[in-house]
Amino acid sequence: MRLADRVVIVTGGAQGIGRAIAARLHEEGATIVVADLQGAEEAAAELGGLGLRVDVSSESDTEAMAAAALERYGRIDGLINNAGIYTSLVPKPFEEISVDEWRTVYDVNVMGMFLATRAVVPAMRSAGYGRIVNIASGTPYKGVPFLLHYVTSKGAVVTMTRAIAKEVAGDGILINTVAPGFTMSDGVVANPVQIEKLQEISLKARLIQRDQFPEDIVGAVAFFCSPDADFITGQSLVVDGGAYFN
Ligand code: NAI
Repeated sequence: MRLADRVVIVTGGAQGIGRAIAARLHEEGATIVVADLQGAEEAAAELGGLGLRVDVSSESDTEAMAAAALERYGRIDGLINNAGIYTSLVPKPFEEISVDEWRTVYDVNVMGMFLATRAVVPAMRSAGYGRIVNIASGTPYKGVPFLLHYVTSKGAVVTMTRAIAKEVAGDGILINTVAPGFTMSDGVVANPVQIEKLQEISLKARLIQRDQFPEDIVGAVAFFCSPDADFITGQSLVVDGGAYFN
């Protein structure tokens, strides 16, 4: 129960990797706020937490998210910036990515993380305590082709983590990145194109010879939220079965 009495918001926590993270943090004692475009209330109800319909790319939604969490629980100790557009994307050469698609990916994956973080930091600052974990991806480390908008958006997550770490460390707020490899989340499993194009190639590239599941990621996230990581900030941990080396 490393997270007893902690209140943690998980964006995109209604399914896939976010849902598994929410379940694990709850097991460790945290009270969970699920913030998602869909299914938030149902997912939160399973954990006895608060479900909020939130589009992380909306400034007003993210402000309302922080306000609702504070109103209900009086504190925000943690934020897991997990909501992201990935599983609906169809890999394609970068010349074929439209401006609209590029903007949508950046609005959610980069702007969404900025807005959600900006919304919760004032409460964390007043408390002198906060733990933020940003979900990036192994793709920017490897330079994965055919998803240029996505890969660069996740590169921005890594650099945002480092830069914000420097602005908030003095207030007791620590922020780190977890970067998963290709994971059999709900969204991936529902997308036959991704399975066909990426499952086998990802398996071949990793040292641990099996598929990656959402549950493979949750331990790293729980660690960064726990007192065991109290001297760690601005870091990135790639959790991908040994496909990428620093
Ligand atoms: P998923 O598609 O299964 O679930 C994503 C969840 O985020 C959904 O519940 C969805 O409603 C929510 N969401 C999407 N846009 C949102 C928005 N604007 N506001 C609020 N909620 C929103 O995805 P999955 O695979 O669980 O991915 C979760 C995170 O992990 C994403 O950031 C993704 O980029 C990242 N990731 C996924 C990998 C994979 O292979 N599945 C690999 C590396 C990173």
